[in-house]
Amino acid sequence: MKDRVQFATRIGAIAATVGSAVGLGNIWRFPYEAGQNGGAAFIAIYLLCVVVMGVPVIVAEFVIGRRSHKNVCGALRDLSPKVNMKWLAALCITSAILIISFYSVVCGWIVEYLVQALMGNLSSAHAQDYNTVFVTFISNPYRTVMWTVLFLVANFMVMRRGLKRGVELAANLMMPFLFLLLIVFCVFSLLQPGASKGLEFLFQPDFSAITPRVAVGAMGQAFFSLSLGLSCLLTYASYFKDTDSLVRNASLVAILDTLVAVLAGIMIFPIVFSYDMQPAAGPELIFQVLPAIFQQMPGGYIFAVLFFVLLFMAAITSTISMSEILIAYFSEEFKMTRNGASMLSTGIAIVLGTLCALSFNVISDFKIFGKTLFDLFDYVSSNILLPLGGIFFSIFVGWMLDRKLVLDELSNNGKIRVRTARLIIFSLRYVAPTAIIVVFLYGLGLFGWLN
Ligand code: PHE
Repeated sequence: MKDRVQFATRIGAIAATVGSAVGLGNIWRFPYEAGQNGGAAFIAIYLLCVVVMGVPVIVAEFVIGRRSHKNVCGALRDLSPKVNMKWLAALCITSAILIISFYSVVCGWIVEYLVQALMGNLSSAHAQDYNTVFVTFISNPYRTVMWTVLFLVANFMVMRRGLKRGVELAANLMMPFLFLLLIVFCVFSLLQPGASKGLEFLFQPDFSAITPRVAVGAMGQAFFSLSLGLSCLLTYASYFKDTDSLVRNASLVAILDTLVAVLAGIMIFPIVFSYDMQPAAGPELIFQVLPAIFQQMPGGYIFAVLFFVLLFMAAITSTISMSEILIAYFSEEFKMTRNGASMLSTGIAIVLGTLCALSFNVISDFKIFGKTLFDLFDYVSSNILLPLGGIFFSIFVGWMLDRKLVLDELSNNGKIRVRTARLIIFSLRYVAPTAIIVVFLYGLGLFGWLN
């Protein structure tokens, strides 16, 4: 595999991987979940999930990717010549397609809001009107589809430039800027008069809030946030150098991803409470609560613009990583050029992304299992496919791969000492699959009696 591309630098490899992990999951979901479900107690459970289950599964994907230096399908075929694992590759490709389709709709919303912020339109509405502004926007099929498509075209422009000049360069440029912006926002937020109330909401430990439902929610959140279970990290690791330490890279990704999630909370809640607003989750927080605050804030114009720039960077470095799964797969399995593979995966995402965008307006009545396409894609991927992928990756590395191969891979053939190697294998065999099966069954509603 001498001629296969690799990330140019270790920093680039880490920036790209952290870029994948840091996304909307960190900024719009984690802070609210934490605040709502026990503050520091939730954060403690979340950390436990990241350490016990997240890091081992990241390492599992890294081992498969870096050992084979192939896309998910080729990698599984190489490492498991006897047992056909094509179905697992198919599961990953399906997850990647579903996630990029609904995720890019939200990315389109972000672009719309960025443009509106730049034009100064966001600051002209009245605080109580932001709800209407948002609902009017997502009900408009033309605008939502247009931005989804344009976002995917921007994503394509990065992808077609290749791994080093596209994926890696974008991450190297955006991730430091993202961290810088986040810190500036945090400092500003902490200087607000009501900051302590926001911090209390986020951190006040309340162990009585920790129900099984909350614990399971924390696990699911960890999975989505770490981009686990769809071979995203596997694909990136296939471009790692043989001298990179897999366990160190995995720990770094987990630490930085968690740090961004906590910082996002520190950035958001003090401002929200200072302006006497109610904290919310998801779209409401980003597209209604915060714009209404920016509008009243001195210097709100620039803060609004920078905030949507921050979100845009967090989002596109994640969609880039989803696309890379597809591009590596199409180009290696079907001998397509990078450009052709990028066009094909963008084409698929445009068709399905358009349908997801339309599920807020034109086809909002079209429901499968009571869910619109957007909700269905989100539900099936996050609650079913990612956990399944995680279970199978841990079983594959924990039980099916030769233990010596795994230890060699973790220690770079004995060149580095990794004290936690055995512990990680233990988790991959017993702890991670058991924990994920619990999340999975719970996500499917089988433990209804726990509520
Ligand atoms: N981890 C990303 C986030 O937190 C989402 C993502 C999922 C990215 C799967 C890639 C693959 O938003």
